[in-house]
Amino acid sequence: MGANRGLMGRDMLSMQDFSKEDILKILATAKKLAKIKSSKVMQGKILGSLFFEPSTRTRLSFESSMAKLGGASVGFADASVSSVTKGESLLDTIKMVQQYADLLVIRHPQEGAARLAAEATDKPVINAGDGANQHPTQTLVDLYTIQQLHGRLDRLKIAIVGDLRYGRTVHSLIHGLSHFSSEVFLISPDALRLPESYREILYRGRIRYHEGKDFTQLLPDLDVLYMTRIQKERFADQSEYQAVKSSYALTATQLQRAKPTLKVLHPLPRITEISQDVDETPHAAYFLQASNGIPVRQAVLGMLAGVLR
Ligand code: NCD
Repeated sequence: MGANRGLMGRDMLSMQDFSKEDILKILATAKKLAKIKSSKVMQGKILGSLFFEPSTRTRLSFESSMAKLGGASVGFADASVSSVTKGESLLDTIKMVQQYADLLVIRHPQEGAARLAAEATDKPVINAGDGANQHPTQTLVDLYTIQQLHGRLDRLKIAIVGDLRYGRTVHSLIHGLSHFSSEVFLISPDALRLPESYREILYRGRIRYHEGKDFTQLLPDLDVLYMTRIQKERFADQSEYQAVKSSYALTATQLQRAKPTLKVLHPLPRITEISQDVDETPHAAYFLQASNGIPVRQAVLGMLAGVLR
């Protein structure tokens, strides 16, 4: 972890493992990369891309980022086409793939899967989502987008709305925001409150936070409205999902009360929590956010590989 090595050789498993300095460094590198069409810094390097759970943006933006840096990717987007269906364990899969790749990115339904994978290899491992636990590169994309739109990460009023219990992007974002001094509004149905351990991170970071069920009355004051999907696949009991699935549905009409500079973010995919008419408003920032996956993931890949500082 030597300071002069930067992030070289490190894993990216949880936002918890990254300091404020690390975060700002990655965002600054991403900002520089956004201005460059392509480069060859990763030439000859291969990303092993192991997706045991569905993904569109995350997987494609990792692979596209690797290609834009001159590198290549191997892997699978669907575990049913890998030897996992023959009963191969995660660890054996990792031990194999590490021989074909310089870095690994893994998405898996089980919490802790990425950390387990990292213990089986010396190659840098990036967690692209492990169950309801963490999704650190999404948080870097979120912070990058907020900084791009508001010019800062401090002194903002940020509401995080939806599935705060099972949303891994929310959990990573809480760690990320704990380094800055924005005020956080946690909006969810009772059943999907942010777990205590994450509220404690805000408390220890001396972040002012509030909990509630409704965001509409906050709209005139908010700078960022971070909407999330109710994580259907994480509910053990689908009747519990049915009870909360329609908790939020942001519309363009509601946004008429918002501060003109309010930006709406969402890690996507959206289901019903943001109506399509919001897309046409100047508040919609979720497609920009998705496009920021490229420079941010380029920065992460290049810095962990030690070819970018
Ligand atoms: C998120 C995820 O996989 O956690 N998607 C993404 O990576 N952009 C959010 C979600 O699935 O709700």
